[in-house]
This record gives sequence, C-alpha cells and structure tokens, in this order.
Amino acid sequence: MLTIASADIENMDKLVRVQFANSLPGPKPISLIGTIDAAGKTNLAPFSTVTHLGSNPALIGLVSRPNPVARHTLANILETKSYTINHVHSGILSQAHNCSARYPKEISEFSATGLTPHFEPSIRAPFVAESRLRFALDLVETIPIKANNTILVIGKVTLVQLPREHLHPDGSIDLFAIDSLASTALDTYFQLTPLARLPRP
Ligand SMILES: Cc1cc2nc3c(=O)[nH]c(=O)nc-3n(C[C@H](O)[C@H](O)[C@H](O)COP(=O)(O)O)c2cc1C
Repeated sequence: MLTIASADIENMDKLVRVQFANSLPGPKPISLIGTIDAAGKTNLAPFSTVTHLGSNPALIGLVSRPNPVARHTLANILETKSYTINHVHSGILSQAHNCSARYPKEISEFSATGLTPHFEPSIRAPFVAESRLRFALDLVETIPIKANNTILVIGKVTLVQLPREHLHPDGSIDLFAIDSLASTALDTYFQLTPLARLPRP
C-alpha cells in the first residue's frame, strides 16, 4: 500500500490536492442548485456536497466554498432564503457542468446553457425543468466551518417533484431509473448501477 501523510497532502500541487481530497469520500451526488436574487435574477451552479442531515424534519446540507470572490449561489440563498436542488442525469450533464463556469451576475446560467427554469407558485427559487428529481428548500441555518472558511448551508425540504412511477410505496426513490449521477472532484462523473437491497440485519 502507498502511504500518504498529511505533509504529503499539503505539499501536493493545488489541483492535484483538489482531485485527491475530493476523491477520498468516494462518489457524491451531483445536483444543480437553483437560486434567485431579490431583483429576480436566476442562477444555477453544480454542487456535489449535498447530504442528508435528518428526516424529521427533512433537512439537507450543502457546503459552499469560501467567499473571496462572488458566490452567487450563497449570496442568493442568504438573500431570499429559498433554493432548489435538481438532480443531474446524463442528458443534461454537459449543461450542468458548464454551469460551473464563472458567469457574471447579470448572466443567468439558465440562458447561458439552455436549461429551462420552472417555477412553482409557492416557491421563489427556480427549478430545472429538465431535472427528473428536484426539490425546494427554505434556509434554516448556516454554520461556518472555521478550519477552511467554508459554510455549511442547511435547508428544510418544502416541495419535491419526480415522476410518480419512480417513487416506491416504501418511500425509496428509484435513482437508477431516474439516471441520477454521481461525481468526484470537479470533472469526473459516474452513473449508478444497482447492486442490492439488503434486509434489516
Ligand atoms: C462537479 C462539481 C461540483 C461542485 N461542487 C461544489 C460544492 O459542493 N460547493 C461549492 O461551493 N462549489 C462547488 N462547485 C463549484 C461551483 O459550481 C462553482 O464555483 C460555480 O461557479 C459557483 O457558481 P455561483 O457563483 O453562481 O454560485 C462544484 C463544481 C463542479 C463542476
């Protein structure tokens, strides 16, 4: 086995370290975060740090990078307290990936990439019409992670949309049928292959 110590990680070239550290947790979901500012300007950005924090209430966390440059997603969430999480499938992968380009605030990633905004009457932030599993959240809490100046953003799920046939009676969602993708680092994407559903031990 190759042994890599923390000093080796610190000495890595920046981009190598990003790839390496980002691969350690294994594949993570990749979603488009839909937001809007108070003036009505929409924004989309891919995030891979989306994680389930609890079911009652249904809470989801995501980690936003530090803020030395404009972070439109974070700024919009703080401004309107509303955002959507939209699963990415292979048919929209290249558009989703291109949403990570640093567009100026005046340019919405929807118009830049050709993805279609979808609005629901009760939800301020835009959904991605092409996404097959999408949900809206209200911001409930932000927790600064002092060690690297990132922010854990916690939201409560307020509305979920998916094709009816992919929600099973036991509450599970058929993410394989939906073709939800996973990712590591900022450039590597995976499709899911179902392996097993095991009985409770
Ligand atoms: C696959 C992938 C995953 C990403 N995950 C995150 C993430 O979890 N958190 C984050 O802050 N940025 C993440 N990014 C970077 C943002 O998408 C990128 O900084 C984007 O420009 C932010 O846009 P905004 O300024 O409109 O919010 C990711 C990028 C890619 C390509």
